[in-house]
Amino acid sequence: MDKICVEGGKRLEGQVGISGAKNAALPILASSLLTDGTCRFTNVPNLRDIHSIVQLLESLGAYVEFEDDMVLVNAASLANSEAPYELVRKMRASILVLGPLVARLQHARVSLPGGCAIGARPINLHLKGLASLGAEIELQHGYVEARAKRLRGAEIYFDTVSVTGTENILMAAVLAEGVTVLRNAAREPEVVALANVLNRMGADIQGAGTAVITIRGVDFLKPVEAAIIPDRIEAGTFMVAAALTAGDVTLTGCEREHLGAVCDKLQQAGAQIEQRPGRIRVRREGPLASLDIRTQTYPGFPTDMQAQFMVLMAMANGQSIITETIFENRFIHVSELKRLGADIVVSGENAIIRGQTSLSGAPVMATDLRASASLVLAGLVAEGVTEIHRVYHLDRGYERIEAKLKKLGASIWRAQI
Ligand code: UD1
Repeated sequence: MDKICVEGGKRLEGQVGISGAKNAALPILASSLLTDGTCRFTNVPNLRDIHSIVQLLESLGAYVEFEDDMVLVNAASLANSEAPYELVRKMRASILVLGPLVARLQHARVSLPGGCAIGARPINLHLKGLASLGAEIELQHGYVEARAKRLRGAEIYFDTVSVTGTENILMAAVLAEGVTVLRNAAREPEVVALANVLNRMGADIQGAGTAVITIRGVDFLKPVEAAIIPDRIEAGTFMVAAALTAGDVTLTGCEREHLGAVCDKLQQAGAQIEQRPGRIRVRREGPLASLDIRTQTYPGFPTDMQAQFMVLMAMANGQSIITETIFENRFIHVSELKRLGADIVVSGENAIIRGQTSLSGAPVMATDLRASASLVLAGLVAEGVTEIHRVYHLDRGYERIEAKLKKLGASIWRAQI
């Protein structure tokens, strides 16, 4: 098992290239199950979660090639329609094959993902959506089994905004008979990216990026070539790193439009942000100011950036409050940050952070993907060495994070335990 060690106190400076978005690549790779030709995707990040979905596609009978940042998928002859527990338990987003499999093969059997460190994370909305499209759903032996001769278009209202829920139903509805309207749909850029790919395959989707998406079903889809959009959460994490270390970092290959809430909060914290197409420069010279954050669905402040901002707040002057409204248990990083000396109190959905100017390095444990990133960030400013254990969480979602930070001047290395 690996650990990442960071020696704090270095100012970050220079340029960093942003990778393709994991959360866009996962549904887009799953969407290749909807066609029997060869799809070619570029700018795919080389991450554990991507390898997990590739393994899942292969286990279904698809032919997959993954080389550098390019993935080819040919799902002409699918051998089975079952996503087994061994694969789904590694990555919850495996549920994204449910919609495409039912649409293409009229049947899917997918292991229930279960809860995870950040909350119960049910899939009731995915199932309700599929049932509305006419699928018969059965839950048995820890699996969801869905069948439908041909799905039929329907009006579907999501009680809660769900990103993968919207994506799953979108992929099911494109091959359904008739018109489907999704209301209270997720507006995240990753949903728009998926809809764009599906439209290029020949689907008829309108309204992606708004709360109402209309899908007119088509009889078949053709293969596509597409590039994955930049990862706004990786970009946001490097922007926080720049502000935190009073650095001067330019991000390349990123999309400013997807980072509105993050830029706004960084400016409130005292960072200067300059933008040109595909590039964002983040600098800080003055002190860090306290600020309050409430996580929301897009275009609100992303829950996936909450843990990273908590570190910034721990170093700011004054008291800050984070209100987490998306996941019920997303403060597990607090106890680890406290081990580094942060002063944080959690009360229900609020975390109250009393800022101060010093953290001190210690061994800490990564608990989930974004929590791990917050520990690396804390290590950048903690005095001495911070050792982050269970870095497999980090490897699920950040491509070569230690190499990228090292190039910016951080003292960081990976070691075996
Ligand atoms: C996706 C992202 C994840 C991000 C999250 C919120 C991917 C692969 N993952 O996760 O990084 O943190 O969006 O932006 O894209 N819910 C239900 N029933 C459901 C589905 C969801 O009650 O059937 C609830 C969840 O428990 C949560 C809320 O809805 O409280 C939002 O979750 P959702 O948007 O579905 O998150 P994911 O799609 O799993």
